This record gives sequence, C-alpha cells and structure tokens, in this order.
Amino acid sequence: MSNSCVPRVVVLISGSGTNLQALIDAQANASLGGEIVAVISNRPGVKGLERAAAADINALTLDHQDFASRELFDTALAELIDQQRPDLVVLAGFMRILTPAFTEHYLGRMLNIHPSLLPKHQGLHTHQRALDAGDTQHGATVHFVTAELDGGPGAVQVAIDILPDDTADSLAARVQRQEHVIYPLAVQWFCQGRLKMDNSPAGSRSLLDGEPLPTNGRLISVS
Ligand code: GAR
Repeated sequence: MSNSCVPRVVVLISGSGTNLQALIDAQANASLGGEIVAVISNRPGVKGLERAAAADINALTLDHQDFASRELFDTALAELIDQQRPDLVVLAGFMRILTPAFTEHYLGRMLNIHPSLLPKHQGLHTHQRALDAGDTQHGATVHFVTAELDGGPGAVQVAIDILPDDTADSLAARVQRQEHVIYPLAVQWFCQGRLKMDNSPAGSRSLLDGEPLPTNGRLISVS
C-alpha cells in the first residue's frame, strides 16, 4: 500500500459501468475502504465515464484503436495507471485481453469480475452458455488477475439458481445485481489488507485474513 492511509484504487472500464457505480456507491457510504482516484476507459464516450465524472472522479479515456498493437496499448495504459499511484487496479467490465507483461506488472494488485462460476464459462457469452449447458446454477466470480484469461485465484464467488424460464438477459440481470454486492466486498477486503494473493512456486492462491480461500473464492449462495 502507498503511504497515504486510504488505499488508492484505479478502475478500468469499457462500457456501462454498473459495477463501477456499485464501487462509487460503496465509497460514498464509506464501505469501500479505499478511494477511487481515477476511472480509465478504453472506449470513448461510454456511460461509465459519465458515472465517474458525476462522482467527481478523474475520468480518463485511452482509446485502444489509437494503438498499432496490443503491446503498445498496454504499455501506454500501464503508464497512465501508474501516474495515479494505485494500490489496487479494478477491472470492471474492461473488455480487453491483457498482455502477460501487463498482468505481471500488477500481479497481486489487480482484480477482475467475471460473470460465471469460474472455472466454468471463461470468456464471452457466459449467460447463454450456462443455459445451453443445462447448468442449474450460475453466478459471478471476483478473482486476482494473472496471465491466464479468467484464470487467477478467486476471492469471492456468488451463485444463484437458474430458473426454468430464464433467458440470457434475465439471467444476466440477476447475476449483475449480485456482482454489485460481491465486487465492493472484495475491494473492501483488499483495501483493509485482509485479501492478498499468495504467489508461491506451488501455485497462486488467495488468502483472506491469512487463511487460504477455496480456489474460486469464498462462495456466497443466493436463493
Ligand atoms: C459485467 O457483468 C462483468 O461481469 C462483465 O462485463 C459486465 C460489465 O458491466 N465482465 C466480463 O465479461 C469480463 N470478462 P458493467 O459495465 O455494467 O459493470
């Protein structure tokens, strides 16, 4: 953590930013444990940037289309992030595949939220894939980011029942409501120094209060 008493958080987004809003709301009611010092979007003009500006948070755009390669974009992005001196980088609907150099640079201090019960359904279209697979449950996972896409050690996971008449949209809406609960919680744990990533040669895992968490994080079930 930096020397200031409040951990500094940078949030990366690509779109609507409802998870960002949940983090902003948690900060407003003093339950985040950190201060969102900047929001960075790789897409210009998205709703999440408006949410940041409305909360008086530095709202920045770095358009990936202005860069000739993924490596050049990630290098510029890391420079912009590091100017903010963050203790934690939070990916909140940041829809970019990251280079290994980038994930290595933020190892143990970057979280992502993924809309599935990892390790199930890594990648895109998770809600439809859960339905197509005949899953009885679906959910979301907050995890540390490693070089493996949607593969880092879990912090917290929420599971909900899939209902017989669910569509991808109805399922996505119910999962997102739970994302807005677990993401502020995980960020709070990190900012309070309770959540850490342990990167031993035997493999990486998450620790909460010094105790190893299950591989996919602490499971919360919602009925
Ligand atoms: C969220 O549902 C998040 O889980 C998902 O994008 C959505 C962003 O919504 N992330 C991924 O799919 C990452 N692989 P938001 O912009 O309203 O927070």
